Amino acid sequence: MGAWLRRKNIDQVTVHEAGRQLVPTLSWPHLIALGIGAIVGTGIYTLIGVGADKAGPAVLLSFVAAGIVCACAALAYAEMATMMPAAGSAYTYSYTALGESIAWVVGWSLILEYSLVVSTVAVGWSGYFVGFLQWASANTGVDMSLPAALTAGPHAGGIVNLPAVAITFVVAGLLMAGTKESATLNAVLVVLKLIALAVFVAVALPAFDPANLHPFMPYGFSKSVDAQGVERGVMAAAAIIFFAFYGFDAISTAAEETKNPGRDLSIGIVGSMVGCTLIYVVVALAAVGAMSFTVFGKSAEPLALIMRELGSARAAAVIGAVAVIALPTVLLAFLYGQSRIFFVMSRDGLLPRGLSKVNQRTGTPVATTLFTAVLVAALAGVARLDEIAALANAGTLAAFTAVAVCLLVLRKREPHRARAFRTPLAWIVGPVAIGGCLYLFWSLPSRTQVYFLVWNAIGVIAYLAYGRRHSLLGRGEQA
Ligand code: ALA
Repeated sequence: MGAWLRRKNIDQVTVHEAGRQLVPTLSWPHLIALGIGAIVGTGIYTLIGVGADKAGPAVLLSFVAAGIVCACAALAYAEMATMMPAAGSAYTYSYTALGESIAWVVGWSLILEYSLVVSTVAVGWSGYFVGFLQWASANTGVDMSLPAALTAGPHAGGIVNLPAVAITFVVAGLLMAGTKESATLNAVLVVLKLIALAVFVAVALPAFDPANLHPFMPYGFSKSVDAQGVERGVMAAAAIIFFAFYGFDAISTAAEETKNPGRDLSIGIVGSMVGCTLIYVVVALAAVGAMSFTVFGKSAEPLALIMRELGSARAAAVIGAVAVIALPTVLLAFLYGQSRIFFVMSRDGLLPRGLSKVNQRTGTPVATTLFTAVLVAALAGVARLDEIAALANAGTLAAFTAVAVCLLVLRKREPHRARAFRTPLAWIVGPVAIGGCLYLFWSLPSRTQVYFLVWNAIGVIAYLAYGRRHSLLGRGEQA
C-alpha cells in the first residue's frame, strides 16, 4: 500500500511499548480545568478588541458564528477522543481514518497551532507584565522597568521579547515536574480568570446602552478589504475571534493520561466548550453595550480600558493583574498539547525517536517538553502578535476539518464499533463543522493563507525526506 494510504489499526492505537507510555492520572474535573484553562485567554482578553474593530457591534455575531463551528468540531472531537483514547488527538484520528500522509499534514498543522498559540499568549502576557512593572515602578518609586530593547522583537524596534521567553520556560518547568501537579495549579488559576471576567461583566453590564449597538453591522457580513487593505466584516472578525474558542482539543491530547476516558473526555470537552461560549457571549454583550466599539477596538487591553472609561480603575487593575497571573494557564495547556504531538509523532517514527522517551521519575516526556519550549520561546522572542494568532487559527482550522472528516468516514466504515460518546445528528454536525472551518479559513487575511501553505509545503518536504522512510507503520513494526 502506498505511504499516503497506509492506515493504523484502530485497535492498536492504545497499545504502546514499555517506556513509551504515559501514566493515567487525570479525571474529568482536571480535564474541564485544563479545557477552560486552555480556552479562556488572549482571545477574550485581547482579540475581542480586534474583532470589534473588524465587525463593529456585530462582533456578537462573530462570537456566535465561531462558537457554532467550534461546538460542532468539539462534538466530533468528543466522539473521536472516546473511540481512540490515545495521545495525539486529530493526528491520531487521521492516522486511523484517513491514512499516514493526511495524518502527517494534520500533525504538522497541529505543531503550527500549538506552537503559535503558546508564542502568541506569551507575547500577550509580556505586554501585561511590562505594563505591570511600569505600574509598580510608578507606585513604589523603585524603578523595576526593563530596557525597551528587551521587551519587544525586532519588528517593533527591540532585540528580543525577554519576558515572553522567560514565561515559556517557567511553564515548561511546571510541565516537566509532572502532569497532575501542574493541572491542579491550573485549576486554581482558572478560577481567578473567571472571577476577573465576572468583575468585568458586573461593572460593564449596568452601563449597557442600546444606542451603542447602532449601526450594528457597519462593515457587512462577509470578508471584504477596505481602502487601507484591512480585512473587515463579521466573518473576518469571526476568523480571528475563533482563537478565543479553541483549546478543548488540548483535552483530547490528554486522553491517554485519563482514568476513565469514555466519561471524562465527553464531560471535559463538551462541558468546557459550552461553558466558555456562554461566558464569551455575555462578556461581548457587556463590552459592546457599555460603549462604542471605536473606543476600545484598537486597544491592546480592551477589557481593562473599558473598566477605566467607566471610571472603575480598581476593576481595571484586577483584570490586568489576573491576566498576568492567569494567562499562563493557556500556555500550560498548549505547551502540554504541543509536547504530546511531538511525542506521538516521534513514537510513530515520523519524527526522530528521541522525542518519545518518558522520564522514569516524573512519568512525563521531559526531553520533548524542553525541545518544544526552546522552539516556542525562540518564536515568542521575535514574532508579531496579530500575525501569529491568525496563523495559529489556520493550523487549527485544518485540524478541526480533518477531525470532522474522520467522524464521517468512521461512521461509514465502522458503523458498529463501540463509541462511548456518539455525536448527535452527526450527518448535520460533521458537514457544518467542515463547511464552517473552510469558510473561516477563507475569511482569514490572505497573507495568513499564504504563510499556511508555505508551512505545509515545508511539511511535505520533511515528510518525504524523513517521516515516510522512518515510519514504524511503513516498516511493518507497528499495526
Ligand atoms: N483560546 C485561547 C485563547 O484565547 C487560545 O487564548
